Amino acid sequence: MKSPFLFALGFAVAVVTPQIVSAETVWLDDLNLASASQGWGEPQKNKSVSGHELTIGGQKFARGFGTHSESSLRVNLGGGAQKFSASVGVDDEVDKNPAASVEFVVRGDGKDLWRSGVMKAGAAAKMCDVDLTGAKTLVLEVTDAGDGNTYDHADWADAKFATAGGKITASEERPAPVAPYILTPSAPATPRINGATVFGVRPSSPFMFTIAATGERPMEFSAKNLPRGLKLDAKTGHITGALKTKGEFNVTLHAKNALGTAEKKFRIVCGDQIALTPPMGWNSWNCFAGAVSADKVKRAADALVKSGLINHGWTYINIDDYWQNHRDSKDKTLRGEFRDATGKIIPNSRFPDMKGLADYIHNLGLKAGLYSSPGPWTCGGCAASWQHEEQDAQTYADWGFDYLKYDWCSYGDVALNEMTNVMNAQLWGKTAPNDASAILPYKHMGKFMVEQKRDIVYSLCQYGMADVWKWGGSVGGNCWRTTGDIVDTWRSMSGIGFKQDKAAPFSQPGNWNDPDMLIVGQVGWGNTHPTRLTPDEQYTHISLWCLLASPLLIGCDMEKFDDFTLNLLSNDEVLVVDQDELGKGATCIINHGDVRVYEKNLADGGRAVGFFNLGVKAAEMQFNEFAPLGLTGKQHVRDLWRQKNLANVDAAKGSLSLTIPAHGVLLYKFTATK
Ligand code: GLA
Repeated sequence: MKSPFLFALGFAVAVVTPQIVSAETVWLDDLNLASASQGWGEPQKNKSVSGHELTIGGQKFARGFGTHSESSLRVNLGGGAQKFSASVGVDDEVDKNPAASVEFVVRGDGKDLWRSGVMKAGAAAKMCDVDLTGAKTLVLEVTDAGDGNTYDHADWADAKFATAGGKITASEERPAPVAPYILTPSAPATPRINGATVFGVRPSSPFMFTIAATGERPMEFSAKNLPRGLKLDAKTGHITGALKTKGEFNVTLHAKNALGTAEKKFRIVCGDQIALTPPMGWNSWNCFAGAVSADKVKRAADALVKSGLINHGWTYINIDDYWQNHRDSKDKTLRGEFRDATGKIIPNSRFPDMKGLADYIHNLGLKAGLYSSPGPWTCGGCAASWQHEEQDAQTYADWGFDYLKYDWCSYGDVALNEMTNVMNAQLWGKTAPNDASAILPYKHMGKFMVEQKRDIVYSLCQYGMADVWKWGGSVGGNCWRTTGDIVDTWRSMSGIGFKQDKAAPFSQPGNWNDPDMLIVGQVGWGNTHPTRLTPDEQYTHISLWCLLASPLLIGCDMEKFDDFTLNLLSNDEVLVVDQDELGKGATCIINHGDVRVYEKNLADGGRAVGFFNLGVKAAEMQFNEFAPLGLTGKQHVRDLWRQKNLANVDAAKGSLSLTIPAHGVLLYKFTATK
């Protein structure tokens, strides 16, 4: 709006002065904040990310944008923007938590215009005042300042633009919309045995393995050289029993139906290590969150079977948070005693029969998982394992659970009390902490996990603190989260997925880096919606997670599968990259602008290569950089998503013509040939 003063001036001297256009104020909070992507929660107008009054270092603000790292909001400046100003900082709602640290960055047309430097909880707001003359687009970013995004509640307070014209709008730079397109050919009606080629079990633990096979039913299964102590149900393909002593057994699995037969070599390793390939299954959190119940879990197990995913190796049905009673929920179904007189954990009323539930899941040929935390409370505020670790481990085993996700929440804040600050400083600093802090609670529970009479996959969930990949295996961990929580945005998925290189060398059979669960299908933490990832972003997600040898845990409502999602999760040539028995995690070998090339060595001597395009336009290239990928001589190239042979190429002088979709991928396997 023009000021009265300038208007009067213009009127009085209209003849001699050029037209002066005064600046109009456009508030950031009036733009489409929903177009922002962020690492946790939803973008908030005039509130902090958790819905409180915007407050930085004790100072309150009426207007602004409450967000959470890693956050990005893209603004089209409309041609006339002159200035952007804001007061920025960590919102006081994180209560001075030392884990909260962020950096605010203002980028104009791809260049840094302003950086706040690292800001911590409790610090006074910093004033950002940036000249925008000539700039066309602005990106407001909040980074995690390099230490993970825990507690990074960040405020752009009092944020506004001064503009002399043109419409200022906020929108994410997205690839052009593409309708879902299916790449995976249908599995043949003849039998085909899919899934892992190796399986680990401890001596005397109950053996449970379901032969994953596609093809028309009925199907009859048999196995050659199955060791003593194991038996195979010819109709279901379930192998059960127990092995008394350590050893390796080379078995041949057979499947037969009216149309043909199939066989596959399969190695059983009875020893100390389990989870010899990354766990594959489902977890309740990304779809049901705090609304999970035994009934929903059973239905998820049924859906895993009915959808046919069980025939591609998907196995675990994992209950996340909210099976226990809650410390202060208003929801009656979550209220009750936390433990009985003997200290045994009491599930909430939605889970009346834990053993019955695990049995139900096992009878389908699947495995069951559970969730707890080393602190007194889980992340959602339910009863957790503090001072009951041994008893809880026994209870989980007695009920029949096969997987434990052990989260960090409340351990740092409450259990260690006055040690918290020291500990967090260590955890988030550059030096690895010792047993007294990050490692201790995981080592403690790890001991009880291996003491149980059944094999329980032990999954550490502490977001990568203290370089967990360096010590997770030594405390009995089979997998460990390397990041904060994923959400179904490109920014979140790509931000996590393309930042895993440092952990990759620690990936090996029994020890898996976990960049968090899958966000395809109907996701939404209690209120589901179709994933916000484009079809190509979903191909990228699954390809990258398989190359990284990540645990694959579906996070969607499996009763609402659509054809595209089901197809995405049932490409056996892609899944086998994840399940490869060498257990290598891919790293980025080539990085050209928006194109990243990841390579993973496979047990059969082949190499899986992902050509990713992080740009919003398709990338076309004539690719000939085979040597850095370790490819020499003549190479046979197969497109894994299309399950099609592409070409034979001479690595010394040949090239491949590639068109990689926007935010998409080409996933190829290279095999040396004559
Ligand atoms: C943390 C974890 C999530 C989920 C929730 C449950 O945020 O990272 O994966 O388990 O806790 O409250």
